[in-house]
Amino acid sequence: MEIHVSKVSEWKRADVATCIVVAQRATAGASPLIDKSIEPVVAAARERGAFKGKVGECIFLPLGGAGSAGIVLVGIGDDADVDREKIRRSAGKAIALLQSYRVTRLAIDCSSLWPVAAFVEGIVLGQYRFDRYKSPDPDAFTGAIDDIVLVAEKPDVLSGDLEHCRYAARVCENANWARDIANAASNDMTPAQLALEAHTIADTYKLGYECLDAGRMAELGMNALLGVAKGSKEPPKLIVLSYHVSHDAPTIALVGKGITFDTGGVSIKPSDGMHEMKYDMCGATAVLGAMKTVGQTKPKVNVLGVVPSAENCVDGNAQKPGDIVRAYNGKTIEVHNTDAEGRLILADALSYVVDHYAPDKIVDLATLTGGVIVALGHYAAGVMATDDSLYDTIESAADLTGERVWRFPLWEDYSKLVEGEHADLCNIGPSRQASSIIGGVFLKEFVGDTPWAHIDMAGTAWGAKSIPYLDTKFASGYGVRLLSEYIRAESEARA
Ligand code: BES
Ligand code: ZN
Ligand code: ZN
Repeated sequence: MEIHVSKVSEWKRADVATCIVVAQRATAGASPLIDKSIEPVVAAARERGAFKGKVGECIFLPLGGAGSAGIVLVGIGDDADVDREKIRRSAGKAIALLQSYRVTRLAIDCSSLWPVAAFVEGIVLGQYRFDRYKSPDPDAFTGAIDDIVLVAEKPDVLSGDLEHCRYAARVCENANWARDIANAASNDMTPAQLALEAHTIADTYKLGYECLDAGRMAELGMNALLGVAKGSKEPPKLIVLSYHVSHDAPTIALVGKGITFDTGGVSIKPSDGMHEMKYDMCGATAVLGAMKTVGQTKPKVNVLGVVPSAENCVDGNAQKPGDIVRAYNGKTIEVHNTDAEGRLILADALSYVVDHYAPDKIVDLATLTGGVIVALGHYAAGVMATDDSLYDTIESAADLTGERVWRFPLWEDYSKLVEGEHADLCNIGPSRQASSIIGGVFLKEFVGDTPWAHIDMAGTAWGAKSIPYLDTKFASGYGVRLLSEYIRAESEARA
């Protein structure tokens, strides 16, 4: 995506692949880009009541004239503070129309659309499609908006906006990369393939790369992770990407659940909708996508990207309910339900990271429980944290990115519910009770004293309806923008 700035006086309509984007108030706002030749088109739309300038409105008006395909009007109401998410969503609405007109360039009037970076985010996320497995359709438009000019009176004022827009486009491209990996079928996106993807990231951005295989895991005593992988022919992997900036800087570990398919194991899932369990590695793709941002932006904190990955399948070797495994940190776990496998692979990954790298903070992301969808639907992730300031930083990142979070407690009473009968811990609690929190208190047993936050993103990883810049057919990429912003905030705090 190319993004540049131009003065109003210097900006010229380029060609019919260009669309003009103008934000309009309810009390009609003037725009330097609406010249005499366009004004009647806009006025007619307003007179017919097709566009009132209210927040949430977004229409495309084709222009017959040369030099542009049309004009997108974005309603911003009369309230001074239109928020980022409203702007993102209006871009999401615009994109379908822009694609039907085969637009590949935008000229955005920045005089009333701010922050314009949010509009860029909506464009990049909104034009995502996943066609890896589709036969090519010769009639389909396969182009995309790849060129944006920010138009304003004073382009020097815009230089900050330009940087923000370029950054926003990059992060959203990383989110789209994560969506590609998540949408890939599980017969292609195995733990080994995920490790290859991580290796490519390490190569591209000169990050450290380490990958533990099953043999090494056995030597290290990672029996919780190995137990999950036992029922599959796909060997498990524990992937670690590392970005090192300085010995004085704090180290933040990002850990993502990478179950490339979750059948439930012997505690098998119902077949309706089971195919969606190819998305059970969206925590991992969020972490890897964020590591791309880290590689591109070189923050002032050290960052580890850790992905335990396995396939949770069923065969004669599979782990059975009642089996007891000893995790990396020595704690024993009774596996009462083989479908609560995410916490098992994370148990070994978290305790290994604490022991081996001694990070200052840990944030894990996982499609861990169906319960979080019962609690919050598809519109926020459930977060549990042992550290208030860590939670606050994540919440601020969520507010900025629109990747929402909502905090759940980690009270001691809940920890009692994961005590084992014959082992230290049990991997489930009483059925239908606070299952997301149960997942959280279980994981807490594996992070020691390290400040830690757990993000249960089972609801937000896919399935949200009526967010115009996200298509329900695809994984959402949730977490890439949130983690990128979180790391940016940690880096800024060091500046
Ligand atoms: N991967 C699932 C969680 C999930 C469910 C994600 C639906 C997205 C949509 C996880 O491994 C799982 O099966 N969790 C169980 C835990 C239960 C057995 C305690 C669940 O939430 O039902
Ligand atoms: Zn499961
Ligand atoms: Zn799972």
